[in-house]
Amino acid sequence: MSTVAASATAAFAPDRTADVSRSEPYETVGEIHSPSARITVRDVTVWYGEKIGIENVNIDIGSNEVLALVGPSGCGKSTFLRCLNRMNDIIDNCRMTGTIRLDGDDIFDPKLDVVLLRARVGMVFQKPNPFPKSIYDNVAYGPRIHGLAETRVDTDEIVQRSLERAGLWEEVKDRLEQPGTGLSGGQQQRLCIARAIAVSPEVILMDEPCSALDPIATARIEELIDELRQQYAIALVTHSMQQAARVSQRTAYFHLGHLVEVGETSQIFTNPRHTLTEDYITGRVG
Ligand SMILES: Nc1ncnc2c1ncn2[C@@H]1O[C@H](COP(=O)(O)OP(=O)(O)OP(=O)(O)O)[C@@H](O)[C@H]1O
Ligand SMILES: [Mg+2]
Repeated sequence: MSTVAASATAAFAPDRTADVSRSEPYETVGEIHSPSARITVRDVTVWYGEKIGIENVNIDIGSNEVLALVGPSGCGKSTFLRCLNRMNDIIDNCRMTGTIRLDGDDIFDPKLDVVLLRARVGMVFQKPNPFPKSIYDNVAYGPRIHGLAETRVDTDEIVQRSLERAGLWEEVKDRLEQPGTGLSGGQQQRLCIARAIAVSPEVILMDEPCSALDPIATARIEELIDELRQQYAIALVTHSMQQAARVSQRTAYFHLGHLVEVGETSQIFTNPRHTLTEDYITGRVG
């Protein structure tokens, strides 16, 4: 939620004049629609300069589900995820065509406050990135800037509830004033999740949130993701097929910027319809 992001916003908007006729719309195999769609992505193409990052992507992300995004390195998973809360705005040369709606609202509407959007669509990164502040202030920061907590008592409550839901409260309740950066990697990642949920988001984006963690910390985060699903829509990028199988209900397979196939996770892993998906999940590619 930096000021850099806010100031770059004006320059970034879907380029509706760009020539999208240069290639046929890509036909994704499987059901792209969700009956409980929170986010709808339609005909989204992203360029970095002249180079295409993702092309013609169509998909819904529904409430109470974890959508796993999988595919070989460079296939566009992070590019796709960053579209959803306009994190691509801050990348020079990056432009987009197509439409993305959150609960029906166009996220590129000039009237929309991008800082608020990023609270509604929170993000957790690969490497835990706590602010250089206390554990307490890491979680309290968002509610304060969004005016969700007026008094110290309100703030205390939000901080405690968020840390409890992130499964970290018992481990940190006696040292809330210590720096967030002093926690272990797994604890830092749970702190970042607490920070994301403190502002009551609707959607949480996670880009390989466990790849820097050991198996025990990973199991902890996976349990947490499964709990959070009860309340949020979650999009999770992962290189671990086991993780996708354990925590997601739907899986989207990307290949060279195309969304090749979407389906129920169990179907994608046991009975993929596209040969590219099959090659990837059986380990022939990637
Ligand atoms: N900031 C950038 N500038 C230029 N090109 C970029 C940028 N970020 C991504 N790309 C390009 O866009 C394509 C998709 O990249 P992206 O990072 O989305 O892939 P990914 O699936 O997340 O890969 P990984 O699994 O390695 O994280 C790649 O060809 C990549 O080189
Ligand atoms: Mg990536």
